[in-house]
Amino acid sequence: MSTIKSTLVLKEHYPDINIKVFYIDIRAFGKGFEELYMRSRRSGVHYLRGLPGTVEELSDGSLRVAVENTASGGLEFHDLDMLVLAIGIKPAKSAQKIREMLGLQLTPDGFFLEAHPKLQPVDAATRGVFYAGCAEGPKDIKESVTQASASAARSIRLMHKGEIITEPITSVVIPEQCKSCGICAEVCPYNAITIDIKKKTPAVVNSAACAGCGTCAAECPFGAITMNHFTDDQIICQIDAVLEDRSQEKVLVFACNWCSYAGADYAGVSRLQYPASVNIIRTMCSGRVDRKFIWHAFLKGAPVVLVSGCHIGDCHYIDANHWTQKRVQKLQKRMEKLGIKPDRLQLEWISAAEGVRFAGVMNKMEKSRQKVSSKEIAETIRILKDREKKRRVSSGP
Ligand code: FES
Repeated sequence: MSTIKSTLVLKEHYPDINIKVFYIDIRAFGKGFEELYMRSRRSGVHYLRGLPGTVEELSDGSLRVAVENTASGGLEFHDLDMLVLAIGIKPAKSAQKIREMLGLQLTPDGFFLEAHPKLQPVDAATRGVFYAGCAEGPKDIKESVTQASASAARSIRLMHKGEIITEPITSVVIPEQCKSCGICAEVCPYNAITIDIKKKTPAVVNSAACAGCGTCAAECPFGAITMNHFTDDQIICQIDAVLEDRSQEKVLVFACNWCSYAGADYAGVSRLQYPASVNIIRTMCSGRVDRKFIWHAFLKGAPVVLVSGCHIGDCHYIDANHWTQKRVQKLQKRMEKLGIKPDRLQLEWISAAEGVRFAGVMNKMEKSRQKVSSKEIAETIRILKDREKKRRVSSGP
C-alpha cells in the first residue's frame, strides 16, 4: 500500500512519469485500499506480476531489468532510469531489549505479541503494557491511530481508580524455607520475583506484577513458594480424591485453565464423547504442575498421567509452558531410570478451540491406560516408596 501511495504522489508531481510496479502479490484488503490501487492503475501506473531477476547498467547509464512475467509466463526486459526496492517492514532492533526489560513476548518475526488476538488485541501479556502501531506488526496510519486510542483507553481504565486491583491468585514465598537459590526469579515470566543471592535473603514476590502461573512454585526445589488458591496441599488433596478408589481405572489429567480446560469445556458443549475414566484437575497454567504432583499420582496408583496446556507460543503466561515441557521431559527420563515406563506420563498441547482434539487425546490416553497392568502399577508404587524411604534416610531425621 505504501508503494501504491508513492506512485500516486509521483504522478501528482510528475504527470508524465512512466511508473512500473513489479509485484508478487497485491493485498489491498482495508477500507478504501482497493480504490486507491485502482486509482493508481487508472492514473497510468503499470502493474506487472513478477520479480526482477537481473539488473544491468547500460552505456547511457540507464538500467535494464530482466523480469519473468508470472502472469504471461514470458521473460521481459525493461529499460528504466531508476529502480526502487520497496522492502518489507522490520521490527526495531530495540524490541528484544524492551522484551527483556518488561517480560514481553515476541512473534517469530520479532514484533510484540498481544495477549489475545481477538479479546485483548492491544494488551501485552504483562499487565499494564499496551501496544500501538508498528510495535505489534506492520500497520497503516488509520490502524495505528485506532490502536493507540484503544491503548490510551485501556491505560486510563487501569489508572483512574488510583489503585490497581490484582487477582488473588499469586505466588507467596515462605521465607523460612527459602534458601535464596534464585531459581524462582529465573523462571518467572514476569520478572515479578526479586532475590539477592549474595546476601542470601529470601525471595520477594511483587504481587502486583505476579500473574499467577505458578511456575515458581513448581520449580522451587525447597517447597518455599506456594500459590494462593492452588496450594500444593489443595492439589494433592484433589489427586487423592481422584485416585481414592479404583485408581487403576482412572486417567489423571492436569489441564491449564485457559486452553486445555477450555478445550474440555468445548468438547462438552459440542457433545463430543470421551471416556468417563478421564478425571481433570485444573491449574491456572501447566507451569504449575509440580514434579511432586506427578510422583504423588503414581504413588497413589495412577496408571497414566497427562499434563496438558496451551500450545507453545500461546501460553497465557508468556512462556511458562516452556518450563512445563522441560519438566515433563526430565520426569520422563527419571521414570525411565527408575524402571517406570516413561509413556505413562504424557504432555499434550490443546487449545480452547480444539474440542475434537481434546476428545481424541482423551481416547488415546484411555487406550494407554488399558495397557498398564495392575502388576506394573504395584511395581511403580514399590519403586516410589523405596525412593521415598531412601530420600528420608539421606536427608536425616
Ligand atoms: Fe495454558 Fe500456560 S496458560 S499452558
